[in-house]
Amino acid sequence: MRTAVDNGIRGIAATCGGVLSCATCHVYVDTAQLVQLPAPAVRELETLEFTLAERKPNSRLSCQLTVDKKMEELIVYLPDTQI
Ligand code: FES
Repeated sequence: MRTAVDNGIRGIAATCGGVLSCATCHVYVDTAQLVQLPAPAVRELETLEFTLAERKPNSRLSCQLTVDKKMEELIVYLPDTQI
């Protein structure tokens, strides 16, 4: 989320600034990369209930995702709408 916002990527609203209260940073993670990410915490799962776009098995809140050096990249797809 921070990388997207800091680089002017449209489609990530992130209105709460990353404190898990808005769900406007919803993304669909490339399914091949899901195994590289830690499972979502309970609070993220709870907040995912409030996404405006369809929630899918690969839905995550981008404010909770960290790209580390082992990953090199993280491919995500943006939902049609956030707000
Ligand atoms: S930025 Fe609000 S839940 Fe992620």
